[in-house]
Amino acid sequence: MKLWGGRFTKEENQLVHNFNESLSFDRKFYRQDIQGSMAHVKMLAKTGIISNDDRDAILNGLEGILSDIDNGKLEFTNEHEDIHSFVEANLIERVGEAGKRLHTGRSRNDQVALDMKLYARDEIRELDGLVKELLLALHNIMKDNIDTFMPGFTHLQKAQPVTLAHHIGAYFEMFKRDRGRLKDIYERMNYCPLGSGALAGTTYPLDREMTAELLDFYGPTLNSMDSVSDRDYLIELLSALSVIMMHLSRFSEEIIIWNTNEYRFVEIDDAYSTGSSIMPQKKNPDIAELVRGKTGRVYGALMSMLTAMKGIPLAYNKDMQEDKEFTFDAIDTVKGCLALFTGMLKTMTFRRYVMEESAKKGFTNATDAADYLVGKGVPFRDAHGIVGQLVLFCIDKNIALDDMTIEEYKSISPVFDEDIYDAISLKTCVEKRVTIGAPGMEAMKKVIELNEKYLCGQAL
Ligand code: ARG
Repeated sequence: MKLWGGRFTKEENQLVHNFNESLSFDRKFYRQDIQGSMAHVKMLAKTGIISNDDRDAILNGLEGILSDIDNGKLEFTNEHEDIHSFVEANLIERVGEAGKRLHTGRSRNDQVALDMKLYARDEIRELDGLVKELLLALHNIMKDNIDTFMPGFTHLQKAQPVTLAHHIGAYFEMFKRDRGRLKDIYERMNYCPLGSGALAGTTYPLDREMTAELLDFYGPTLNSMDSVSDRDYLIELLSALSVIMMHLSRFSEEIIIWNTNEYRFVEIDDAYSTGSSIMPQKKNPDIAELVRGKTGRVYGALMSMLTAMKGIPLAYNKDMQEDKEFTFDAIDTVKGCLALFTGMLKTMTFRRYVMEESAKKGFTNATDAADYLVGKGVPFRDAHGIVGQLVLFCIDKNIALDDMTIEEYKSISPVFDEDIYDAISLKTCVEKRVTIGAPGMEAMKKVIELNEKYLCGQAL
């Protein structure tokens, strides 16, 4: 049954129906659609546009529809064009005449704008909670590892020693910014488009403040043409989701590398690994690889959305129906990735000894050896050259700087003394980096304290 059959003389072609329909995917926000209708109908009664009796009949009917969908009694049948038509048709079937008054002063254009906003808003809250869970997991790893030394890398070559807490702390910052982005989007989008009608408002004396308040918005939107054709908040959301995926993907890549036979920095728990059908020895990091792989489809959703919107003249055009499938998929993908990734991280074993040995072997303390010479009056450029010679010497003998004898040191530069060993120990190298943001333990403790406070703060 069509909502708009009156003006038409021919039945809709089946292929046209299939091409045009959105019920197969916009059923996902039936809850929000009904929630919006309930607010609308309460306002219609309050402003005297419909009677209280009609309001009560409609509310009853809508509640029935909601619970029947929830517990599977009411099934979506594909003769309906979209979720809005489906709910309205069912309502009329249940409550008769009164149901026909629900759509007074409303268009599907402001209705769908509202539904999508309500849906996105609910999902943003959920996403925020999942990112917070991940931050908590990172925080716990940081607290336990302020003295777990490991090599820090540039160009994927060992560079300077850091700690596991410091390395994980970098991701803490990234995901903290991600939460900030979600919050910004929430704040900007939280205005109610209901009451904008098809594009030009309505002639009914609607109380838009009332519906905005009932639906927990900051207030009504201020331009009806923009209200029905604004999908900026979805583009912003898909962009924030893309950044989350980019972060998760980088992290996944590191875990995949750390989990290799060559690195052995971590061991992914059996529950988060998979085997090979042919090679009995294999334990593969599939979860991390899938997270890395799924990043592309979230980027794809962002590109699709930007492209869909770029040529649309004001106000509503059907192109906008394309906002849904990609967005739903992107949100579900990110939620899945966040949950799985956090689980993998919580159960992963960090091989502290292996990390520390690796930091020792890669000349990560070479900069500190040069700084030692500078401390004894050698110009930095000369010190750099001298330590370069030490490194060559060690590579030739397959030893670390720490393993050279004092005589060997002195043969390269007489400036070296016994205190060189302490100066280049991993502990000293890390501990001397005390400015805020650096891996030194005192600096890390301050950051962890700030993170703790941040985590106690308000969720969305
Ligand atoms: N299914 C439509 C959408 O998702 C609902 C709005 C329909 N409005 C219209 N004028 N045809 O955009």
